[in-house]
Amino acid sequence: MTPLTREQCLELDRLDPLAARREAFRLPADLIYLDGNSLGALTVGAERSVARAVGVQWGIDLIRSWNVHGWIDLPATLGERVGRLIGAAPGETLVCDSTSVDLFKLAAAASLGRGARRKIVTEAGNFPTDLYILQGLAKLSPQIEVHAVPRDRIHDAIDADTFLVVLTHVHYRTAEMYDLAAMSARAHAMGARILWDLSHSVGAVPVDLRATEADFAIGCTYKYLNGGPGAPAFLYVRRELQESLQPVLSGWLGDARPFEFLDDYAPAPGVDRHRCGTPPVLAFAALDGALETFDGVDMAAVRHKSVQLSELFIALVEALPGADALTLASPRDPQRRGSHVSFAHAQGYPLMQRLISRGVIGDFRAPDLLRFGFTPLYLRFVDVWDAVRIFGEEMVAMPTGPSDDAPRLKVT
Ligand SMILES: Cc1ncc(COP(=O)(O)O)c(C=O)c1O
Repeated sequence: MTPLTREQCLELDRLDPLAARREAFRLPADLIYLDGNSLGALTVGAERSVARAVGVQWGIDLIRSWNVHGWIDLPATLGERVGRLIGAAPGETLVCDSTSVDLFKLAAAASLGRGARRKIVTEAGNFPTDLYILQGLAKLSPQIEVHAVPRDRIHDAIDADTFLVVLTHVHYRTAEMYDLAAMSARAHAMGARILWDLSHSVGAVPVDLRATEADFAIGCTYKYLNGGPGAPAFLYVRRELQESLQPVLSGWLGDARPFEFLDDYAPAPGVDRHRCGTPPVLAFAALDGALETFDGVDMAAVRHKSVQLSELFIALVEALPGADALTLASPRDPQRRGSHVSFAHAQGYPLMQRLISRGVIGDFRAPDLLRFGFTPLYLRFVDVWDAVRIFGEEMVAMPTGPSDDAPRLKVT
């Protein structure tokens, strides 16, 4: 039964097997942070790791650190650690570049092997970078057509002319979740490859890329993995496809023999060929430390708590006086929902500003969505209860009528 009292929430926190993980985070005491789906919180591990990388590795060991401290291997070593969270086998995941750049790299490489097929199928309303990057690729190869279609028409849009399907597993606005296995099966039945954007999944929703037969994946590490602002992204290539996939952004560190400084590029074996240039070591250090919070964590327990938190939030919000001004914009069925919840409200922007001024940090997505993220490793049930109490107070206190207060700052 949904607990509707603060005491019941405190009791759930006492019983929570993940409760102790909160100590690994540096969270300001006066905030309830419901935006870890956009920028994850600072971890003690990240803070220490960056201090070490700056003080000892850069400060003292200097250039020797490329070998002595394994800087050169960071894309692969961190790739292995992220890979464990997404059901990748060893040697299938790499941390490098940004999600946008990694999408370009994999989509462009996939386009080289497309034969006579012309279509990339994606979702209309996908995260803008996913659409824009594909549109840019189509400018380079005018035979390529990008078909961005509504979610309910994706299945039929994948046809014998399709070489690549690009979908975001958990939608950034609504948190609506695709069935990974079913969509991969559809793509494969039509002879196409599938690429998943896991930005809103990794670290919050269990993903098994091998079991669901994904071909490629990309994703952010600065959301639920807490890697820090602008942290490097990850990319995944199924082992069976690696040797046939030729990089287009063929940088020197993706070469088979980078330190022989040869004139002509020859791809490194395996996923390493998708490395491009020199890794930003300090950003890698932050991610390295942040990933410690996932050591020994059972993703099924993370998912269980994520569902409990978001179910509690929805139940409490919908019981508020004035809740009839809100419309749930996320799936009601938790099995079809990721780890954030969005409500539409006609005055969503000023309402979110009021919540933020009271220390409840969510975010706003135009035109009218209030978005709240639930990060099971540091969020308590009582935080949800307290946040909803403030939400209710601010909703009642809102002046009625149209607002001229427009969004000024947009972050992803
Ligand atoms: C689904 C999705 N893909 C990609 C990105 C951003 O990619 P990048 O890190 O390259 O800005 C975001 C950012 O929020 C996102 O939500």
